[in-house]
Amino acid sequence: MSATGKKLVVYYSWGNNTKAAAEYLQQKLGADILQVQPKKPYPPDYNACVREVGRAGKEFEPELIDNIPDLSEYDVFFIGSPCWWGTIANPVRTFLHQNDFAGKTIVPFMTHGTSGLHVGDIKILCPEARVHDGLGIFNSYQVSTKKNTPDNMGDYRSDIDRWLVRIGF
Ligand SMILES: Cc1cc2nc3c(=O)[nH]c(=O)nc-3n(C[C@H](O)[C@H](O)[C@H](O)COP(=O)(O)O)c2cc1C
Repeated sequence: MSATGKKLVVYYSWGNNTKAAAEYLQQKLGADILQVQPKKPYPPDYNACVREVGRAGKEFEPELIDNIPDLSEYDVFFIGSPCWWGTIANPVRTFLHQNDFAGKTIVPFMTHGTSGLHVGDIKILCPEARVHDGLGIFNSYQVSTKKNTPDNMGDYRSDIDRWLVRIGF
């Protein structure tokens, strides 16, 4: 697994917690960053969002805003997602399905309310990528109705620091 090469941090975040982790990671790595966003935003109300996501199902791939750069110049993709219904959020699914990661390295990170890190679907969607050991970040507002509360992820910056050392980045 290669720690060298050009890095892109890609994330989706409904409540800005994964965003905080992604932005810290970007700064630590000196990487580029991309926020994927669905064309139709999810409801700002937590319960309405959970209901809509549940109704659409985990396989649903929402259309994304067209802000994806040329990915061919990148070697390592840090892929960040909140845990949604036990897996990656649907906009991340769209991004992984619509792009080619053959021969690339994927390093997943996921913020979650208890479920932990789930990378099974990343491996299914990107069978020819090397999927690195990821990081789960516990968000104590597991059923949060609040946005912009990265403090509820404890000392996530130190967790990220230790993780990067552990995986050789
Ligand atoms: C639609 C939806 C589904 C969720 N499903 C889970 C889940 O299955 N397991 C879990 O631990 N947390 C779940 N959560 C909680 C989020 O993973 C957690 O709050 C996360 O840190 C939010 O990240 P964000 O602020 O970047 O959106 C869910 C949240 C939402 C909005």
